[in-house]
Amino acid sequence: MESFIKAVDFFKGNKPEDIVAKYGTPVYVYNEDILRDRMRKVSKIITKYEFHSNYSIKANTNINILKIALSEGLYADAMSVGEMRILLDAGFPAEKIFFVSNNVSAEEMQFAIDHEIMVSIDSLSQLEQFGEINKGGKCAVRINPGVGAGHHEKVVTAGKKTKFAIAEEDIDRIFDIAAKYDLTIAGINQHVGSLFMDPEPFLAAVKNFLRIAMKFKDLEFIDFGGGYGIPYHKLDDEKDFPMESFKKDFELLIDDFVKEYGYAPLFKTEPGRFVVAESCILLGRVHSTKQNSGVKYVGTDIGMNVLVRPSMYDSWHDIEFIRGNEIVARENMEEQTVTGNICESGDLLARNRMLPVAQKGDLAAVLDAGAYGYAMCSTYNSRPRPAEVLVTSDGELKCIRRAETYEDLMRLFEV
Ligand SMILES: Cc1ncc(COP(=O)(O)O)c(C=O)c1O
Repeated sequence: MESFIKAVDFFKGNKPEDIVAKYGTPVYVYNEDILRDRMRKVSKIITKYEFHSNYSIKANTNINILKIALSEGLYADAMSVGEMRILLDAGFPAEKIFFVSNNVSAEEMQFAIDHEIMVSIDSLSQLEQFGEINKGGKCAVRINPGVGAGHHEKVVTAGKKTKFAIAEEDIDRIFDIAAKYDLTIAGINQHVGSLFMDPEPFLAAVKNFLRIAMKFKDLEFIDFGGGYGIPYHKLDDEKDFPMESFKKDFELLIDDFVKEYGYAPLFKTEPGRFVVAESCILLGRVHSTKQNSGVKYVGTDIGMNVLVRPSMYDSWHDIEFIRGNEIVARENMEEQTVTGNICESGDLLARNRMLPVAQKGDLAAVLDAGAYGYAMCSTYNSRPRPAEVLVTSDGELKCIRRAETYEDLMRLFEV
């Protein structure tokens, strides 16, 4: 693909230079049509049985995006009290929220209990804690199915080498603790990892989880986790996750389970990245170009504080350059290393990448920045976090989070 921005008319007629003149650089720009499209796709992964897609808001917690998710009928996963509170403020009713807890305090659990939000419990000791504060209550347990997968070891969330969930061999102890506190185990959940482009490992995990589910009686729901991938190499024509064929295979596995289990509980999934990643482009300015020991550096204001994925996971994000509102053609390519403005040698957006030759003054457009982008921003090097802007379905620009200011950075100091 020559240009994703052109192919989907990402800015809907708005000129990128006008956007940055108004909101500064860097700036996260979202496209509402793409967001709604992906939300609709995930809400229909399973149609034959009762099914909910819980948008995993850790990927992007902007309250305006949550309101769009709610309007598209999505449910939601929260990982903290902060995320539960944002969801409640966005208008999500408690029954549409699932708190996937991990090593949380009794107070955090109590918040969910007080608001009648279902909690997923991540260890036997946390199940004891839940029982102590909520005798006779209802919860879900997160099971480690013993196998994990994902694009980087830091996002593999099941298997022998992870902190998450309760091992299958401890299931009897779950029942013992549940009996001790008169708890109902209403559901089981798993999340094996992130960024599956090939459905096979996910389907294998589904099959395995359904085998484990047979050990639980009277389940109200089974939650298979998230992880559906998106094509981060779209400029090199990487294909989408094959959602259509995946859906069919997923349903077949569920058919077999339902026959054996005797009824169909509610089925759930927890996509984050698939919902929001492709709806966002991060725009930054090229402030310098230089050559050091044979390496051509393109210096931008998109530091690792703004987008940490490349530094943290060696993640790939396609980059297009924009010069005077025109996309720079993918010809006259040279190997370049695109960096940010943070005082760290690991502050790299793209290393030794064949890209059109960048010039000072260009805009760098980083694709697929909507998931784990702003959500992982920091103020490292005392750089305020950027604005987030939505290009609405009718082509309007709407600021959905203003940029931080120096005063915001100073606000918490006790002086
Ligand atoms: C428990 C849980 N559910 C859902 C997700 C969403 O994963 P993804 O964004 O890859 O779909 C994650 C991400 O790590 C997770 O930890």
